[in-house]
Amino acid sequence: MERDEMINWLSPDRDPADLYARADKARREAVGDAVHLRGLIEFSNFCRRRCYYCGIRAGNAKVRRYRLTEGQVLDCARTAKRLNYGSVVMQSGEDSHWGPAQLAEVVSKVKRETGLAITLSVGEHTREEYKLLRAAGADRFLLRFETSDRRLFGMFKPDSDYDNRFRCLAWLKEAGFQVGSGVMAGLPGQTLESMADDILLFKRLELDMVGIGPFIANPDTPMAGAVSGTLDAALRMVALTRIVTKNAHIPATTAMGSIDPQGRQKALRCGANVLMPNISPTEHRVDYSLYPGKICTNEAPEQCAGCVDAMLDSLGRKRAEGAGHSLKV
Ligand code: 5AD
Ligand code: FES
Repeated sequence: MERDEMINWLSPDRDPADLYARADKARREAVGDAVHLRGLIEFSNFCRRRCYYCGIRAGNAKVRRYRLTEGQVLDCARTAKRLNYGSVVMQSGEDSHWGPAQLAEVVSKVKRETGLAITLSVGEHTREEYKLLRAAGADRFLLRFETSDRRLFGMFKPDSDYDNRFRCLAWLKEAGFQVGSGVMAGLPGQTLESMADDILLFKRLELDMVGIGPFIANPDTPMAGAVSGTLDAALRMVALTRIVTKNAHIPATTAMGSIDPQGRQKALRCGANVLMPNISPTEHRVDYSLYPGKICTNEAPEQCAGCVDAMLDSLGRKRAEGAGHSLKV
């Protein structure tokens, strides 16, 4: 699909029904009806960065900081196994106390004990550190570039470097990870053109996974009072991403479910084929509030499992078997 046609589909006043139908068909043909469940472990909310949009940014004194122990992470992974999820996603802020060396150890333990596929989402590191994590048994890595627009990136990520972000994505690929990236839809100042460029970049980077969610203004950040993104914009991006990338794994994200109670269901009907139910200890969930209104903060892992199974039932979809590795060759 050409950039101009994408921009046209991204326009809020154009009826997206045909786009969604086309994306749903593309999803069925490229990845089938089964939905992969990845258990999400939010293992530390310490972060050295100060991204303007993010609730767990360094310096946000309202956040009660926590860090799971190795034993707690292992317990979460056991829970994932028990709930029959095919993989775990270990996510945290950029926490120096849970650095690559410690992480590598827990990764190898999770791997040895559960055999589950392991995805890391722990931010920017060096090439050597990525190699270490891969050698320890991590299979995949998520690192959203957040926006392809260099100017916006600089505005919202004051202590990050645009070029380094993409260097990290290249290192991850070189280290042999299945690589995921993604963006927020509806960042203040983001244009339809830049959203189309995000999608073209997903394609160019040959990503194995692409996560997209609406930007949700967080009152405890410098973006308090900003206008949030819309589910509509995020769904249009999901649909176009499905059409353009064909068989990438695309989650119906928590941010979509948080901005609209039917958000994830809608995403699964216009291109998405993955859900990431939370398996973090309930007591800490509320403290991993990247944005307000985040769903699942009062639930236990079992409740989220029941909820996603009911969701799949209602959509006439089923759980996928196995780890759900990349479908790229
Ligand atoms: N609204 C929506 N998504 C957010 N993220 C961080 N803060 C927000 C927010 N306020 C997303 C970023 C990050 C992912 C873990 O959460 O895209 O990569
Ligand atoms: Fe957690 Fe629905 S997935 S309550």
